Amino acid sequence: MKTIIEPFRIKMTEAMVLTDRDYRMKQLDAAHYNMFLLNAQDVTIDLLSDSGTGAMSAQQWAAMMLGDESYAGSTSWHHFQRTVREITGFKHIFPTHQGRAAERILAVTRLKPDDIVPSNSHFDTTRANIEYVGAITEDLLTPDGENLSLDKKFKGNMDLNKLEHTIKKNKAKRIPFCMLTITNNMGGGQPVSMENIAQVKALLQKHHIPLVIDSARFAENAYFIKEYEPGYKNKTLLDIAKSIFKLADATMMSAKKDGMANIGGFFACNNDEWAEDFRNMLILTEGFPTYGGLAGRDLEAIAVGLMEALEYEYQRYRHATMEYMASHLVDLTIPIVRPAGGHAIFLDATGFCPHIKCSGYPGIGLVNAIYIEGGIRGVELGTVMFGRVKNGVEKPAPHELVRLAFPRRVYTQSHFDYVIEVIGQVWKQRLKIPPYVITKQAPFLRHFTAHFKPVF
Ligand code: F0G
Repeated sequence: MKTIIEPFRIKMTEAMVLTDRDYRMKQLDAAHYNMFLLNAQDVTIDLLSDSGTGAMSAQQWAAMMLGDESYAGSTSWHHFQRTVREITGFKHIFPTHQGRAAERILAVTRLKPDDIVPSNSHFDTTRANIEYVGAITEDLLTPDGENLSLDKKFKGNMDLNKLEHTIKKNKAKRIPFCMLTITNNMGGGQPVSMENIAQVKALLQKHHIPLVIDSARFAENAYFIKEYEPGYKNKTLLDIAKSIFKLADATMMSAKKDGMANIGGFFACNNDEWAEDFRNMLILTEGFPTYGGLAGRDLEAIAVGLMEALEYEYQRYRHATMEYMASHLVDLTIPIVRPAGGHAIFLDATGFCPHIKCSGYPGIGLVNAIYIEGGIRGVELGTVMFGRVKNGVEKPAPHELVRLAFPRRVYTQSHFDYVIEVIGQVWKQRLKIPPYVITKQAPFLRHFTAHFKPVF
């Protein structure tokens, strides 16, 4: 069959709020034109994040009822540990309340000021946690990966020449570990090929530098490898995931993505010394190592969810949804990052709003216009989020993007048809989108709380 259907049916529904334009204009004004300050009840289709926003399966809900809430050594912990070990093969496994808790503990236990951590692209919380301890982050994407509109596979790959250069320039001992983010959220949700992971590992091994994988979307990455990298057609997603983790020395994961859960994360590694340090800090700030800040029922939901994310039919449907939306937007000549990523569509706000300079925040203009038009919430990934303000001078971000992230198993095809129609309408009136100014902002991570005003 040509038609790829949602491989699930719906047992429980959640009412959606349908609002009109006047109401949305009022709410947006009250939220100071910042998507993060809107009430969720005023959003019809929420594409702000795919993190912790998915629908759990009946199997997950059933597993939650089996949650063992014992303080230490619960059966839920053993279920969680067994599952994470089966997929990753790692000796030491530590739950955390979400991904950034694992990032923080790894950063404080392994890094010192002026250390360097290269990656294909660090996610913003990873970067912030590394920089918080005084270490330096480097993003080493290939030139293909930096080219937003180039329609090529595996644009999340790390540039091996750049990595070699960084190692030679800085000496390996300044690089306590190197990271790979799969898929690469900051670079448009683009995957990393198995070949690239293996090449990165081989280069690092020569210099005794460990490889840490940020595996928030590892199952989506495994799907891209199966479909698009020669030699993996007949492998299961679980086999591919195992091969990925075999190449790594450690991994940290936000289970709010491919853990198919609403909360949770973990860190896993083979090195006993790393594990000892991590365990001690985990006890200090997250909890006893067999629950790490999570309830037993959360551990159950993640254990079931990790395996569900590796079901081929599920990933095939998810990928088809991305491609469906991307191809319709391309047909309307709307500029987007190509190819479609694993978890989101990224609109190019510079191409969408050529009349707005970076200093007028085209991404903020675009997200607000989409909300006003159809009650859809996306997020700006541009100068507001990544621009650096130093001594009152703002350095623009390299790209002005708007991300529409797809919660897992939540929206159906007619919802996506609606999103396409709304964006098509905004596209027709794009030159009416106003620039914005910031009227209030925090000294860091300003995008969460900043206040904006349109300039007409
Ligand atoms: N790594 C990646 C690649 C992520 O995308 C995220 C979160 C994290 C780590 C941190 O995990 O949220 O559980 O602490 N990304 C979310 C997003 C917030 O919307 O893309 P967390």
